[in-house]
Amino acid sequence: MPATVVVGTQWGDEGKGKLTDLIAKEMQLVVRYQGGHNAGHTLVVDGESFALQLVPSGVLYDHITPVIGNGVVVDPFVLLAEIATLEAKGVDCSRLRVSGNAHLILPYHQELDRLTERYLGKNKLGTTKRGIGPAYADKAMRVGIRVQDLLDADIFREKLTAVLVDKNKVFARVYNRLPEDADELADRVLTEVAPALEPYIADTVSLVHDSLEAGQNVLFEGAQATFLDLDHGTYPFVTSSNPVAGGACTGAGVGPRYIQRVVGIAKAYVTRVGAGPFPTELFDSVGDHLVEVGREFGTNTGRRRRPGWFDAVMLRQAVRLNSLSELAITKLDILDALETLQVCVAYDVNGVRHDHLPYHQSDLHAATPIYETLPGWGCDLTGVTERHQLPAAAVQYLEFLEQQVGVPITYVGVGPGREQFVHFSDAG
Ligand code: IMP
Repeated sequence: MPATVVVGTQWGDEGKGKLTDLIAKEMQLVVRYQGGHNAGHTLVVDGESFALQLVPSGVLYDHITPVIGNGVVVDPFVLLAEIATLEAKGVDCSRLRVSGNAHLILPYHQELDRLTERYLGKNKLGTTKRGIGPAYADKAMRVGIRVQDLLDADIFREKLTAVLVDKNKVFARVYNRLPEDADELADRVLTEVAPALEPYIADTVSLVHDSLEAGQNVLFEGAQATFLDLDHGTYPFVTSSNPVAGGACTGAGVGPRYIQRVVGIAKAYVTRVGAGPFPTELFDSVGDHLVEVGREFGTNTGRRRRPGWFDAVMLRQAVRLNSLSELAITKLDILDALETLQVCVAYDVNGVRHDHLPYHQSDLHAATPIYETLPGWGCDLTGVTERHQLPAAAVQYLEFLEQQVGVPITYVGVGPGREQFVHFSDAG
């Protein structure tokens, strides 16, 4: 009954979808445990690109049951649209299961996300404006509406009407907006989405436990990443859930004893979308090169991602926060044309060296990276499939990262395709 967690170790967009897809072969269940459609996984299978937001990537395998766990916030309109798109491409989504305990994102959450960002002005967080924060806030305030409420029209209508009394006061008095009509929205949800989603709604805790008890392999798939974690990220420039590996326990309903393997995903460099501190950020032509060659624009929002060098200080912290057993490095090929590469091995904060992430965020804002420079390899890695085919400089770079971070690098991604990866070291 082994369970594996796949978790992003930087600020998201590390290519978790590709790695998840790669190890999904051995899995029977793939469970998303947090986040919502702020996530965007792109998978390239046989030259065809699949952009997934809510549906776990395991959906592309016939033998896998993809599960949306209780920790996820679900926009039911988006979920249905995603299912329709996948089905139109020939992907069978009938095995998908959605936790009845997951909370719904409804249009007023998205409106509140847009309005709060607008009114924060220059202090805005740069959210995806998908309503993620307001939906999790309602969950914590105990006024959220859950997926299971779709199964009872009277309960759904009653809860929606109650919560909109308060929201409409905020819309009218704080933001000078028109109120949301509870009956109209209830009619829309109850006719357009509730019947269509009903077959997918399930007791996913039992599903996960039945699977683990039957000795099946279960994969918990995180969205966003360690430094966007509500507790451990660069608060307030974070998302409103817990992407760290421990989030799999609460977001799927299992205890930590089941989790045997935690795979951290890191890009060979770093990107970040939205505001917040970023010690190794590049503002020069190398940064532009990474964005251009790495196609660093949001899958979801189209925003340009901020680029930077690999930061081993962050990764050491990610090892601690997630109990990483191994690391997968993605997009190594994006560094192909660079003559030299820099890796941040420590921070200088007002003359003091920090090998670990400073706990006070003002120190992180003041951190200057201490870099080690390594040679580039100057050739195309996209066709490499075996470790021995890697040029010496690429091996040196990867071994340096292993030594700096302290966990083995098991997989290395060298292109977007399913087959474009190299097995580098064995898991420790
Ligand atoms: P929210 O999750 O939409 O509330 O956005 C909060 C922060 O998380 C913003 O900086 C977003 O850019 C960032 N964020 C949310 N989802 C992702 C993701 O999937 N990849 C990268 N950044 C993300």
